Amino acid sequence: MSGLCIIGLQWGDEAKGKLVDLLTAKQEVVVRYQGGANAGHTVVVGDQTYKLHHIPSGILNAEVLNVITGGVVLNPPTMLDEIQSLADRNIQVKRNLKISDRAHVVMPWHLAEDRALDRATQGDNNIGTTLRGIGPCYRDKVGRSYAIRLGDLYRPEFPERVREIVAVKQRVLAGIGDESEMASLNADEIIRQYQGYAEQLKDFVCDTNTLLLDAAEAGKKLLFEGAQGALLDIDHGTFPFVTSSNSSGLGVCAGSGVPPRWIDKVIGVAKCYSTRVGGGPFPTELHDEVGQNIRDVGKEYGTTTGRPRRCGWFDAVAVRYTSRLSGIDTLAMMMLDVLSCVDEINICTAYDIGGTVVKEFPSHAEDLKVVKPIYETLPGWKVDITEVRNYEDLPQQARDYLDRVSELVGRPVEIVSVGPDRAQTMFREL
Ligand code: GDP
Ligand code: IMO
Ligand code: MG
Repeated sequence: MSGLCIIGLQWGDEAKGKLVDLLTAKQEVVVRYQGGANAGHTVVVGDQTYKLHHIPSGILNAEVLNVITGGVVLNPPTMLDEIQSLADRNIQVKRNLKISDRAHVVMPWHLAEDRALDRATQGDNNIGTTLRGIGPCYRDKVGRSYAIRLGDLYRPEFPERVREIVAVKQRVLAGIGDESEMASLNADEIIRQYQGYAEQLKDFVCDTNTLLLDAAEAGKKLLFEGAQGALLDIDHGTFPFVTSSNSSGLGVCAGSGVPPRWIDKVIGVAKCYSTRVGGGPFPTELHDEVGQNIRDVGKEYGTTTGRPRRCGWFDAVAVRYTSRLSGIDTLAMMMLDVLSCVDEINICTAYDIGGTVVKEFPSHAEDLKVVKPIYETLPGWKVDITEVRNYEDLPQQARDYLDRVSELVGRPVEIVSVGPDRAQTMFREL
């Protein structure tokens, strides 16, 4: 048996998609278990680039079964677009994609609520969501009374339920003060559209709990693909500037329906620097030309929303915290090539909070907002490393940098990435 998890250790976009695609060759099932279309996972194969939102990054390997479980919140039209755009590029989807009937459905009112709340909370308190309806959908899941799961779309009571919920949601939207969003909700239109989506999705829908438990008990190799990153975890991240699911390693079991006994390895994915999209504290953020340089060289613009990503130095306090929290065995350090653009590299080794040196990650966003990062400065290497294929051939400064990161985080570096392509990856024997 083998259950391998890939978990982002920062604020998302650590290049999980690249890694999952790469590791899929040795797996039999790839599982997406939380989040939804807020995720944007990029896989580059030769001259082809694929951007995946719901569909697991194992989909490019025709031999592997890809499963979307009940922990995911699913947007049917986006999902159908994703399926269609892969099919248009001759990627096999029909046979090797399964979606849980327990997955909650992102409905038009969730998108409207996300937009309305975003407009209502501008300024420092704005979370800067992806506007994909993720928070409102998970809120209804936890609230239960107004939730709709994928399996509900096929039931005779679905139209009545939509009419009932639309009446309530119109009052909610009016309460937030958004008349235009309220007017856009038409129950009959929604019923017709979503029954149409359900019909198109029906061959993919099944009870994935049974499917995955059978697979695990039959000794199949499972790979769990995390979305977002551990610092965006609803319970353990930089709350309230987080997403609405457990995006750290702690979310794997609840989201997938596969218990911990089947997990035997967790790889933590981190960039060699830090990025964040949206609002919230970011102690090592760079507001100068070094930050802009990293953004330009790393092409740091959101895969889902196109927003420029905020860039900063590697934060070892944060990544040590999320590595422990997620039960990380080894590290995959991505985007090392991007650091070729800087003369010197800073690593944050501790925080200064009002004159006190702190090495633990604060639990309150307001505390995190005022910490001052304490840096250790290492020399850069200033040469192109995108063609390097063996760890030993990396410049000494780059290996020293990775050694220091590993020491501070407390985990060995097993994988190093020096470019988006599958080939630009090094594996180390540990
Ligand atoms: P994910 O959400 O964690 O899957 O990451 P994204 O796909 O949102 O963002 C990662 C971006 O970096 C994508 O455009 C990848 O193609 C690209 N990428 C992946 N690995 C590397 C790398 O080692 N170096 C560089 N320069 N780009 C990379
Ligand atoms: P992947 O899987 C980076 C961020 C948003 C916002 C916060 C809440 O590609 O790494 P949400 O729409 O989830 O309610 O937004 O979380 N966010 C991400 N940032 N990568 C992601 O996914 C993200 N998914 C959500 O920018 O700050
Ligand atoms: Mg992404």
